[in-house]
Amino acid sequence: MTAKILKPTPENIALLGERLRTGELVAMPTETVYGLAANLFDEGALARVFSVKERPRFDPLICHIASSERRAGQGWLERLAEMGLIDGEAAQEGRYTDAEKLAERFWPGPLTLVLPKASGVSDLATSGLSTLAVRSPRHEAAQALLKAAGVPLCAPSANRFGRISPTSAEDVLEELGDRIEWILDGGACPVGLESTVVGFEEAPVILRRGAATQEEIASVLGRPIEHRRLGEMGSGRVAAPGMLASHYAPRKKLFLISRPISRLTATDLAKVGIPSGAKLGLLVWRGEGEDEAQRWGQLAREGSVNATAETVASLSKSGDAAEAARGLFAALRRLDADSRTTHLVAEPPPSEEGLAGAILDRLQRAAS
Ligand code: TXA
Ligand code: MG
Repeated sequence: MTAKILKPTPENIALLGERLRTGELVAMPTETVYGLAANLFDEGALARVFSVKERPRFDPLICHIASSERRAGQGWLERLAEMGLIDGEAAQEGRYTDAEKLAERFWPGPLTLVLPKASGVSDLATSGLSTLAVRSPRHEAAQALLKAAGVPLCAPSANRFGRISPTSAEDVLEELGDRIEWILDGGACPVGLESTVVGFEEAPVILRRGAATQEEIASVLGRPIEHRRLGEMGSGRVAAPGMLASHYAPRKKLFLISRPISRLTATDLAKVGIPSGAKLGLLVWRGEGEDEAQRWGQLAREGSVNATAETVASLSKSGDAAEAARGLFAALRRLDADSRTTHLVAEPPPSEEGLAGAILDRLQRAAS
């Protein structure tokens, strides 16, 4: 099977909406990354999502809904309950007041809310948890497809498990082209990083950092919000299954260094453990990458490292975090595919503020 790539014309949207309703899988663009969409109420389709992605069953899916679902003046949680997605009674608990506020402010957009699930939602979608993750994507083609399908769609990122998320139709083709039939081509994803996942425990908590920033969420809540650290995930914690440390990974080993290459010292390098003779692809945060290549050459000449910089990718000339996020996965893919390199080295972002926090999270996972 080779996937067909279709543009989001009205005819194609109608066709793919119908295919989804009848249980087929469609890779769809969203503002964050491409998702592998399937009818949430079709168990066979859900099972195929797991097998196509080689995804373990303990990693639950995100349910996507059309923003047109909600009637004027209606609350989001009320509508989700009507749609048979969440437990309306449980959702009335005080802690979900924050969920309503967040949905109101961010949807459609890159924020996923973890809510008490309705009994009719398959355990396959939620990995047996009592909660369902939901969001409404801010992408015209995704919204049109959701509307045409007329059913909620689960959509994990359209990559094989553990690999780099796809941000273009070509990326999806490379990941899953031999396993699925349809790819809706909505161009390059405008945000480039997955949605932020927020759970509601005693207080709201960020389970996965992502495109909606911690600062924006805190400002809507009117108080600070914590994010779960990488070390606290993947140890079987029920609140964050599937948040495995090793994820978003290139095939080549990636080393995340502790400071920008311009300030890197022999001592820093000794701690990183880059193998002798490695041919490197450098991922730098800003500029053109020429200074970094030069500095690396100097470190090599001084004998601080026995590895050459073969190529450099820069995330943003001006050091802009939104631009860096948009190009992050594509840059990792490019460096990974470059036959001149054997290993990758990534600079950390200059701070953890805003989107940079989510970028750091992805680099840490790619490196572990
Ligand atoms: O931006 C996104 O969220 C993209 C696009 C396609 O919408 N989707 C995406 O899906 O990133 P996926 O499957 O690659 O990541 C979903 C993550 C899971 O790994 C899981 O950790 C978390 O969301 N999740 C899903 N359901 C959950 C639940 N009930 N409780 C806690 N975490 C959950
Ligand atoms: Mg994923």
